[in-house]
Amino acid sequence: MRYCWTLFITLVVAEELVAAAPPPIRYTYRKIHDPDGIGKFYMGREIAWVMGYQGADWLDRPEREKEEHTSKLLKALALKPGMVVADLGAGSGYYTFPMAQLVGPKGKVYAVDVQQEMLDIIKRRMRARKVENVLPVLSTETDPKLPQGKIDLILMVDVYHELSHPYEMVREMVKALKPGGLLVFVEYRLEDPNVPIKLVHKMSEKQVIREMQPHPVRHLKTLDTLPWQHVIFFEKE
Ligand SMILES: C[S@@+](CC[C@H](N)C(=O)[O-])C[C@H]1O[C@@H](n2cnc3c(N)ncnc32)[C@H](O)[C@@H]1O
Repeated sequence: MRYCWTLFITLVVAEELVAAAPPPIRYTYRKIHDPDGIGKFYMGREIAWVMGYQGADWLDRPEREKEEHTSKLLKALALKPGMVVADLGAGSGYYTFPMAQLVGPKGKVYAVDVQQEMLDIIKRRMRARKVENVLPVLSTETDPKLPQGKIDLILMVDVYHELSHPYEMVREMVKALKPGGLLVFVEYRLEDPNVPIKLVHKMSEKQVIREMQPHPVRHLKTLDTLPWQHVIFFEKE
């Protein structure tokens, strides 16, 4: 009897300790840091400043195809007519419009961005090009505002490293994917010193995989056939 009471009291105390435990500390902050970063760190990596809409011309630069082989990336996504996909951190829509063409009129592309000015550029281009299967979505820093369980593939080109709340954003992205849906990261290779991009705007494959560990996704494959970027595929479990 005494044993039962001791066990009961131990369980109650343990439960109260768990309830009183502070929430996990996901992010840390440093005063001395890379000037291209925001001084906020996730799993040892400094988060970069968001690229402002004033830089949209750089995203549309004509030499981008030659530098980054953007059409090769699109091919690697294997998009099919009728698919529902998201271009997360769509910027000026450099990838949104070819994606819209690949999924066709029966498919759709959610063009998600946290800057209204980027979405305004996309909306102007939709009107000028008479594109109807793109849905512009204004996200917050913690929520991409996508419908749950409806998306076949989410693409992030040169975006993830600048999400101010990477854990929360990926948690919501995974909810938005269908089971078996794909989350695709395209990041400049940190491992390659010849890639001419600022340090905090690059990511190693190892770091991306580490940061996906808290989420119910599995690393499917990494393509390293683009000149500057990794293409890292995860599948929702
Ligand atoms: C470097 S640009 C890349 C744009 C586009 N993916 C491309 O390759 O042309 C990064 C974009 O991510 C967007 N972004 C940053 N944080 C975001 C967030 N929390 N949610 C949605 N978009 C975000 C920025 O506003 C910017 O348009």
